[in-house]
Formats: sequence, structure tokens, C-alpha cells
Amino acid sequence: MIGTDTDKATQILRDGGLVAIPTETVYGLAGNALDVKVVAKIFEAKNRPTFDPLIIHLADIDLWEQYAENIHPLFIELATIYCPGPLTFLVKKKKNIPDLVTSGSPYVAVRFPEHPLTRTILSNLDFPLAAPSANPFGYISPTTAQHVHAQLGSKVDYILDGGPCEVGLESTIIGIEGNKVTVLRKGGFDAELIRNHTHLDLSYFESSTSNPSAPGMLLSHYAPRVPLYLVDDIEDFIANSPNSNIGILCFGRQERDFTQAKMVLDLSPSQNLHQAAKNLFDYMRKLDDAGLDYIIAERVLGQGLGLGINDRLGRAAVKG
Ligand code: TXA
Ligand code: MG
Repeated sequence: MIGTDTDKATQILRDGGLVAIPTETVYGLAGNALDVKVVAKIFEAKNRPTFDPLIIHLADIDLWEQYAENIHPLFIELATIYCPGPLTFLVKKKKNIPDLVTSGSPYVAVRFPEHPLTRTILSNLDFPLAAPSANPFGYISPTTAQHVHAQLGSKVDYILDGGPCEVGLESTIIGIEGNKVTVLRKGGFDAELIRNHTHLDLSYFESSTSNPSAPGMLLSHYAPRVPLYLVDDIEDFIANSPNSNIGILCFGRQERDFTQAKMVLDLSPSQNLHQAAKNLFDYMRKLDDAGLDYIIAERVLGQGLGLGINDRLGRAAVKG
């Protein structure tokens, strides 16, 4: 059932149920992070392998120390400035976080989501919410309540409708060692902002198929059912392909001639990265549902949120 009743959502969560919650990034499939049975239900509903750990969601950074230890002062500083927001921190977990949440890792991913409905629920609960994106494992993340309903409707007890997600890309995940911050997943927070903090050295973790223990970073992920080709020059690609039952996902169409294609969706006519991030998953789903033979997409500007968008396009694309 879809609705906007936070009291009902809170009660279901207290009773050990699952609720799809809106966040600024994507919708999450939430349950009590401290209850192993509930956490197991989350993995099952998503058909997610248990080697892929879950993020826990807290109302406030003051609660952080109840679930994590040795939190780096620079993390506290970053959280104080940028949270609630689309930034997730990898920190040493305390014993009260079940191993199933972290897939056996001594580190837990923590975030402080920004959406008024979800913040209301979190502040009414006395436990954190474990919440992966509310999509079947490997598919495109949901950015509306309807996306969740279409795929997990029968597996959640309630879908809390908070409207379309403002950011539209999953949170950026960071870890820290010494004064060196590693971006483990590019996402809805512009990690370059972290460089502005003196003494912080920033690097990006690059995944490979041989490193599946860095999950969510599996090379094939966030993928539509219809093949998606990520190309450098869309016009050139379609000129060499006689098929018209195709879709195009572009970033600023301008004067380009795409009349051959059945469906053309422009992530942002004015090449605005925030708009592109917000539209990305919804447009991928629309193209996937249009009965096309394949989708042709292009990269967006490779800076700021563009890093996360290009990362998702790369994982959605046919390899080879
Ligand atoms: O924006 C988001 O982060 C959304 C909303 C719902 O909060 N959540 C989300 O969760 O994207 P999920 O489960 O789809 O992706 C979480 C990813 C995992 O795939 C994994 O890569 C990483 O976070 N992660 C979580 N816990 C980790 C841990 N203990 N160690 C390493 N990576 C971890
Ligand atoms: Mg996910």
C-alpha cells in the first residue's frame, strides 16, 4: 500500500515490518537494523546476496557513537557541515550492529538522510534503519514511490510516498585512513567538495570484476533489461545502424538529428548535472519499458555529480 502516513510507517517498523522510505537520493527498503530477522527479510525481498552489505540510516549525528567507534574527527567535521545529505561514511562498527548488516565486515556504512518524512520516522524510532535501495538486486534504483510499487509492491508492508527524489543518485560513500579519504562509491554528493578541507587527500576506488567484495560496485549493476550501449557519438552510431526501434538517452540534444529513434529522452536540455541526476533512473526505466530493441546513451560532463551519473551509465551498459 502507498501512502503518506508516518505514524503507520513507524508502527510497522516497530513491529518488525518493511517500509519503503523516501530519501533525497533514492527510495530505500527499510527495516530495523538491530533485528537480524528483519535484516534477513530485506535481503530476501531484494533477492540480494548477503555479501553485499547494507547502509544504516540515523536521524542525527549525535546518535553516531551508539553504533560506531573511533569515528575520525574529520568525518565528524564533514557530517556536521554536509549532513543530513547524500553522503555515507564507512566507520568501525560497534557490537550492536549485526554482522549480517555489514556482511561480516568490521565496518558499517552510516548515513543521515534528508527527507522530512523519513527524518520524522527516524526520530520516532529508537533503532537505526537498514535500507538498501528499494529495487530488485542489480536493477535500476527507484526514485518514486511508483517505481517501488511496480517491482517490490508485494514484498513491502508499506510504501511511504515522499514524491520524486530530489537528488536521484545513491549517496556518495567515503572511507578514511589517516588523513586520506577514499571515495568508495561516486554518487549524489560532489566528493570534490571534500578536497576543500585542508589536509584531506582524496582518491577514488576503482572497482574491477576481480574485486566483488566491494559490492554495489559490481561492474554490472543498475542495469535495464533492454541492452544499453554507452557511446561517444550517438549520431555516428545511429547512422551506421538501420534500426528505428531504438531509444536515445542524451545530455543536451541541441540540434542533433535523432529522428530515426522511436524515443528520445534528454537528461537535461541545458546540460545541468543536477537535473540530469534527478532524471537519470526515471528515464532509464521509461526507455526500458518502451518495448525497444536497445538504448543508446552518452556520457554527461565528467565533473561533480557527472562522475556518479557516468559511473551508473557505465554499469548499466553492455560490456565489451
Ligand atoms: O543513497 C543511498 O545510499 C541509498 C538510500 C536508500 O540510502 N541506499 C543505497 O543502498 O544505495 P544500497 O544497498 O543499494 O547500496 C549500498 C552499498 C553496498 O552495495 C556497498 O557497496 C556499500 O553500500 N556498503 C554498505 N555497507 C558497506 C560496508 N560495511 N563496507 C563496504 N561497503 C559497504
Ligand atoms: Mg542499490
